[in-house]
Amino acid sequence: MRYAIVGCGSRHRMFRDALCGPYADRHQLVALCDSNPRRLALSAAEAGRPVATHDAADFKAMIAAEQPDSIIVATPDHTHADYIVTALEAGCEVICEKPLATHPDQLARILDAQARTGGRITVTFNYRYSPARTQLREIIAAGTIGEVTAVDFRWHLDRIHGADYFRRWHRQKANSGGLLVHKASHHFDLLNWWLDSRPEQVTASARRAFYTPQTAADLGLAHPGPRCATCLDGAQCDFALVLDDDDNLRRLYREAEQADGYHRNLCVFDPAIGIEDTFQAHIRFASGASANYTLYAYAPWEGLEVSFIGTRGELTHRHTEVHGIFGGKRPPGEHESMATTLHLAGEAPRAVEIPEGSGDHGGADPVMLEDLFAPDRAGPDRHNRASDQRAGAWSILTGIAADRAAQSGVATDIGALIRDNALVGLTDPSRPEAGAA
Ligand SMILES: NC(=O)c1ccc[n+]([C@@H]2O[C@H](COP(=O)([O-])OP(=O)(O)OC[C@H]3O[C@@H](n4cnc5c(N)ncnc54)[C@H](O)[C@@H]3O)[C@@H](O)[C@H]2O)c1
Repeated sequence: MRYAIVGCGSRHRMFRDALCGPYADRHQLVALCDSNPRRLALSAAEAGRPVATHDAADFKAMIAAEQPDSIIVATPDHTHADYIVTALEAGCEVICEKPLATHPDQLARILDAQARTGGRITVTFNYRYSPARTQLREIIAAGTIGEVTAVDFRWHLDRIHGADYFRRWHRQKANSGGLLVHKASHHFDLLNWWLDSRPEQVTASARRAFYTPQTAADLGLAHPGPRCATCLDGAQCDFALVLDDDDNLRRLYREAEQADGYHRNLCVFDPAIGIEDTFQAHIRFASGASANYTLYAYAPWEGLEVSFIGTRGELTHRHTEVHGIFGGKRPPGEHESMATTLHLAGEAPRAVEIPEGSGDHGGADPVMLEDLFAPDRAGPDRHNRASDQRAGAWSILTGIAADRAAQSGVATDIGALIRDNALVGLTDPSRPEAGAA
């Protein structure tokens, strides 16, 4: 297959390096495309083999010139729809980073283009591919805990990873949909996939409690902002991100700033931030199950806790994660750990042995890349991990509904969102469509 990538920031590297490395004997990366010439040139230089570069304004011309079979979309979230629609209309397949889109209008255009062209869209829900999370789905699907009636799901973003969403484009809902769409689409997708169901109704609350000017004042920061690079409080601030301290951040962002004014280290306490950092949602599923979900972005640790309550027992999983460097200071002695416990009624709780995985996102990314680029070798998709536009849609519809519910204080019906926005391909009430959950 001939691939092109649009969006040459941090995330695209996983795809580029896979296509130019372990999968180079099967596929060809023919073009890179970005609106920032510096990042574009850097990516081409790092590719290690010749690859054409094109400015984002020439995306359509790039497709005509380079004839890719598939486009990988790794641009900021609000731009996905335009690239997906153009790619499908030009006859290409699409691999899109999550979230598929940020707004129902964008989703409607994507679903319409897919229905018109019949083109294939894959949404890269890498979180599905971690061995531990796949195992949870297997246990649930086998009926071990009976019918799942309720789920408690908490995701803790620590003050290093969590803070990062407040430094750049994610900090405005117009770009990212807010964390209920940008980040939680991973988590809502996991719920849909674990339960093999679809969300029907959502209530939620959301608040910016921590990344505020008040917190800066409480921390003794007298003159925070607007960017770490120029901040007078930088030396005292635990959240300061010095791009020059990290070779990767320097080359990818600081040295590319001049071209487009994209600053990677805006102040996390900026009053102009438009997203929240604390969320709770209650989701009702078509299966009859319900879930309580919590996300916050200033936790003292990073990871997830999930409990599935079933008619025969409980299944719980806890994963303490350790991330890469995004500024800030890590607590000492932090290490990755996972535990899954099965507690069936009438029996003692027992630890479940978790299959080993290695690589980014809990061992998920390498497994997903094999599925994407060597499906023959990866074997049949027994766990239904490959996700199409419908799975992408269900995950963001939960987030969009939760955001609306949080703003309005009223429960949001996902069926109404589908009808009001004429979202094609999502209306079959009788069964979860293939790939939808
Ligand atoms: N699945 C995951 O775990 C995961 C992890 C990180 C990011 N992501 C997703 O990957 C995507 C990219 O995130 P990132 O962290 O790499 O962001 P980034 O800011 O590092 O990179 C974005 C790139 O897109 C370019 N760009 C901006 N606007 C553009 C436009 N209109 N046309 C073309 N190029 C444009 C920027 O110049 C930059 O090079 C996002 O959708 C994000 O949600 C997914």
